[in-house]
Amino acid sequence: MRILVVGSGGREHALVWALARSPQAPTLFTAPGNPGTAALGTNVPIEATDVVALQAFAEKEAIDLTIVGPEQPLVAGIVDAFREAGLPIVGPTAAAARLEGSKAFAKDFMERYRIPTATYRTFEGDAFDEAAAYVRAEGAPIVVKASGLAAGKGALVCATEDEAIAALRQIMVDRAFGAAGDRVVIEEFMTGEEASVFALTDGEHYVVTVPAQDHKRVGEGDTGPNTGGMGAYAPAPIVTGGVLTRVCREIIEPTLAGMAEEGHPYTGVLYCGLMIDAGQPRVVEFNCRLGDPEAQVVLPLLQNDLADVFMKTAEGKLSGVHLRMGQEAAACVVMASGGYPGAYATGKPITGLDDAAERGAMVFQAGTSVTPDGLVTDGGRVLGVTALGPTLEAALDTAYAGVDAIHFDGAQYRTDIGHKGMAHLQS
Ligand code: AMP
Ligand code: GLY
Repeated sequence: MRILVVGSGGREHALVWALARSPQAPTLFTAPGNPGTAALGTNVPIEATDVVALQAFAEKEAIDLTIVGPEQPLVAGIVDAFREAGLPIVGPTAAAARLEGSKAFAKDFMERYRIPTATYRTFEGDAFDEAAAYVRAEGAPIVVKASGLAAGKGALVCATEDEAIAALRQIMVDRAFGAAGDRVVIEEFMTGEEASVFALTDGEHYVVTVPAQDHKRVGEGDTGPNTGGMGAYAPAPIVTGGVLTRVCREIIEPTLAGMAEEGHPYTGVLYCGLMIDAGQPRVVEFNCRLGDPEAQVVLPLLQNDLADVFMKTAEGKLSGVHLRMGQEAAACVVMASGGYPGAYATGKPITGLDDAAERGAMVFQAGTSVTPDGLVTDGGRVLGVTALGPTLEAALDTAYAGVDAIHFDGAQYRTDIGHKGMAHLQS
C-alpha cells in the first residue's frame, strides 16, 4: 500500500510513525514532511496547500490513500478534488470543513441541532457599533473570535468590556486577521476544563479515540498567550466514561446526522474541542483534523493497524471497526524556540535526540531542518518529546527525562504538562 501524508508538523511525524508500524508495511510519502518523516519514508517537496500539485503527485505515484494533517488544504477543497479524480483520501469536503473554517457556520449549525456550546451572536465585519453594543449589553468576561481561519490565533478571551471592544477594533477596523475577520463571533465565556475528543468517521459510522488534553498557553499554570499547543497527555481523566458518552450522544452523533441531513456528510476526523463543567461537555470549537500535539499522544496509544483503519474510513467501511487502546498513558512535552509564539530565531543546532531515545522517549519533529552541520531548529514548535508509560506519572517522567537530554539555544518548554490530569487522578 502506498500512503501519502500531507503536512509537516509533529502531528504528521506521529501519523507517519504510526502508519510505519502497520503490518502491511506501507510505502510512505510525506508532503512536504520534515526530517523526522524523512527517516520513515520519502519526503515530497510539495507544500501542503498546493492541492493541484498534490493531486498530480498522487496520480503519478499511484497513491492508494492520502491522509491530510492540517486544515488549510481541507478548507480549500483537497478532498473534493481527490474524490473527483477517484483518489481515496481521509478528510472532510470543503463544505463539511466549514465546521472549522467558519466559526459563524459552526455556531449556527450547533444552534440548529441544539448541540451544547456557548451562547453567541455573529456580526458582519462592518458592524462594529452593533458588536460593541452587544459587548456592553452582555458584559465581561466575553470571547471575541474572527470567524475564518486564523492559525489558532483568532479567539480573544477578554476579561473586561474595554478589552473586548479593543479586540473588536483589532479584528474589524485594523483587520489584524485579514479576511478571517469578515465576520465576527462574540460568545459567552465558558468556565470549566478543556479536553479534545477525536471522532474518525466515514460519514455514517464513527469511532472515537482516547480523549486528550492540550496545553494552549505558552506559560506555566496556563498563563501568557495562546500557542498551537505546548504539550498534551492522554487519556484525560476529566473525560470520564460518562462524559464521553455524553460527547457521543449530544455532540458527535447530532453533528454527523445534521451534516448528512444538510447534504454535506462529514468524513475524516472531527475534532471536538470541549469545555467540561460539572460533567457537562460543551463545544468550544470544532476542527476538521487531528489536533497537534494531541495526535502525538493519541496515535501511539492506538493498537490497531492504522493504515487499515484510515483506508476503511476513506472507503466508507468503518462499520464494525473498534479502536483498541492499551492500558497505558501517553505524554508529550513540546520544546519550542525561545520567543514563540512571538518572533524567534532559527538555525540553532539540536543535540541529544539519541540520548532522549535511550531514556525511552520518542521524539516527534516539527520545526526542524537538516543542514551540513546537522539538525537545527526551523520553526516555533521544534520537537514533541513523547513517552508512554503504565501511568500518566510514568509517561510524564520519561518524557521529561527525554527533554532533559535534548539541547538547543533558547529552548523553552512547560514543566507542568499533565498537572491537571495528575490532580484528578490523585483526588
Ligand atoms: P478557539 O480558537 O475557538 O479554539 O479558542 C482558543 C482558546 O480560547 C480555547 O482553547 C479556549 O481556551 C479559549 N476559548 C475559546 N472560546 C471560549 C469560550 N467561549 N469560553 C472560554 N474560553 C474560550
Ligand atoms: N492543539 C490544538 C489544535 O491542534 O488546534
